[in-house]
Amino acid sequence: MFNKICIIGIGLIGGSIARAARTQGLCDCIVAYGRQSGINNLIKAKELGVVDEYYLDIESAVNHADCVIICTPVGVMEQMFSLLKPFWNKKTIYSDVGSTKGSVIAAARKVFSEVPPNFIAAHPIAGAEKSGVEASKEDLFNNKRVVVTPIKSSSSDCLSKMITFWRAIGAQVTEMNVEHHDAVLAATSHLPHILAFSLVDLLGKKDEQVEIFKYAAGGFKDFTRIASSDPTMWLDICQANKQELIPLLQQLQVKLAAMEQMLADDQSQQIFATFAYAKQARQRFLTQFDNSMSQSITFNVQPGGSLRGEIRLPGDKSISHRSIMLGSLAEGVTHVSGFLNAEDSLATLQAFRAMGVTIEGPENGEVTIHGVGKHGLKAPAEPLYLGNSGTSMRLLSGLLAGQSFNTVLTGDESLSSRPMKRVTTPLATMGANIKTQNDGTAPLHITSTRSLKAIDYNMPVASAQVKSCLLLAGMYAAGDTSVTEPAPTRDHTERMLNGFGYPVQRDGDKVHINSNGKLTACDIDVPSDISSAAFFLVGASIAENSDVTLKHVGINPTRTGIINILRLMGANIEVLNERTVGGELVADLQVLSSQLKGIDIPEELVPLAIDEFPVIFVAAACAEGQTRLTGAKELRVKECDRIQVMADGLQILGVAAQPTDDGMIIQGKTSASITGGEVISHGDHRIAMSFSIAGLRATAPITIHDCENVNTSFPEFRDLATQLGLNLR
Ligand code: S3P
Repeated sequence: MFNKICIIGIGLIGGSIARAARTQGLCDCIVAYGRQSGINNLIKAKELGVVDEYYLDIESAVNHADCVIICTPVGVMEQMFSLLKPFWNKKTIYSDVGSTKGSVIAAARKVFSEVPPNFIAAHPIAGAEKSGVEASKEDLFNNKRVVVTPIKSSSSDCLSKMITFWRAIGAQVTEMNVEHHDAVLAATSHLPHILAFSLVDLLGKKDEQVEIFKYAAGGFKDFTRIASSDPTMWLDICQANKQELIPLLQQLQVKLAAMEQMLADDQSQQIFATFAYAKQARQRFLTQFDNSMSQSITFNVQPGGSLRGEIRLPGDKSISHRSIMLGSLAEGVTHVSGFLNAEDSLATLQAFRAMGVTIEGPENGEVTIHGVGKHGLKAPAEPLYLGNSGTSMRLLSGLLAGQSFNTVLTGDESLSSRPMKRVTTPLATMGANIKTQNDGTAPLHITSTRSLKAIDYNMPVASAQVKSCLLLAGMYAAGDTSVTEPAPTRDHTERMLNGFGYPVQRDGDKVHINSNGKLTACDIDVPSDISSAAFFLVGASIAENSDVTLKHVGINPTRTGIINILRLMGANIEVLNERTVGGELVADLQVLSSQLKGIDIPEELVPLAIDEFPVIFVAAACAEGQTRLTGAKELRVKECDRIQVMADGLQILGVAAQPTDDGMIIQGKTSASITGGEVISHGDHRIAMSFSIAGLRATAPITIHDCENVNTSFPEFRDLATQLGLNLR
């Protein structure tokens, strides 16, 4: 990319850039500029081979350099620009690595009057407590974020070249404007540093300091790790960004004073709510951002094997969502057991905490919800982030349309591309005020209207989410709201509303609700999710010599399409110990290996098995003859386009899978049905798990990329699948 890179200030960051650029072959020659006082560091840099040469005069250092990166503290940027000014070359790209960007741009303006277009400000968010060139390493920026903060006058060529450079050394590059960068970093980095420095300063000066440090276990050590950072550098950063930092410090003081008061007044509920909210928020941040940054999860499945054993699978996702929603709106305390501790259901839980509901847990599947009543929710301080969860977004849109406050609903990339008009259109007819993006996708901006009116709605698609959304809105609407389904869909909302004592009537394919009801807290026992069971129902069917019993699975008739379809294909599934638990049918399912045969899947079963088709396609690939699915266009708008993505993956694995507009045609084989290969799940949990199950009948290993989202519905999948005999790493 470059002939000569000149690094000004060769410490941890500058040294790591040099090492990475060299390893990746991004330049012919790297030199450093430094001052006499730092000569030892410069000598070391050359000795270590980090740079080819170093200079104490700037003119020689930048001579013929086509890239100059200023890696000095932000406090001396003005000095550096003045030093560079006489030799500034229009053909060279200049950049920096400062932690504050407003001050850097201001320094450039001061020296040059206009910021030169070939200066591209950047901030790699990477570092270590150690400093100096000896601490530098070539992978410091691997998977780390680098924020570039171009301004209006920045050259787009220089910008794209710097972005390419950072990407080439492993970083994930984000563009931000200067002010936004400084505000974000003040909150996420600069404030925590001030806190860590201050806390150690406070405790260190106490008389009993020796005691404190002697017993300082994980908490103190973890919390104050960043107090080992370079004080000069941090003084610089805090001064440079004080405009953003001071208001944050003031807010923190208010928070601490409130905490002090809550402790003094023994307000245990409020304290708990603060802690619990923080715990969940941190968890969400770790899974949402940190995981995707640092660990992309790949499954590797060795071919063959059998599934054998008896297990209880995690709780039903649909019921878990609804338990939080209705428990929050109930009067009294609702206890939930068997709650699904996965990202999707936690997104709902977190949303209600953000709306002022105290929710304890989940701890071993137990959740306690201190209901606030139908009108007791409070405005959340921030947009509600719902991750990957379509159910959360669609059901909440109805529930929130009738509240007395405004809300914004956001989600991850997949959720933000899914159709929301199917809920916002009928809600608008009820008088709701919800803005989507132009293409009908999230974020959803819900503006409070206190006067929802009932509608009689004929659903164009068979969707439990749309039905549930409108029933929840109907709880706040004047008149009788009714929803007619074109085909039966899961009825957990209706059942649970009745369980909470809220009247809902069914009249054939029509469900009615009105606002004259209240929810009374109750206990909810969430059965295992049949959608998670589906992977093992198929797995044990297709793998020879298998015998699996899945305990306590929900077999609500609106969910058992998978059992019906597999039985039509010749599967050997027994439903044992059928019983009713908390208004839902539950049973143990025993499944033995069998030779499946291809079928035309009856269209009326499609909504009853809507989430199970990815793994049904795998069953079809191992069945004798052709399987044909029609009437399942909805699969194209799930977490990904499940028709296309499954067809692509199956074809890679040697299966004759032909996608159609509304389904798929698969020519199954009895032996050697699936070859090995590498497939991509497109971030869709069910695709990742389905291809894992395919490994049971594969002739070579299957690698499945992009499996992080298994955590949205079934975080224990890997452990339970391996426990039963799947060879998955
Ligand atoms: C769900 C309904 C279904 C299903 C989803 C969960 C629910 O969606 O695919 O995983 O809990 O109501 P649709 O209503 O879009 O079919």
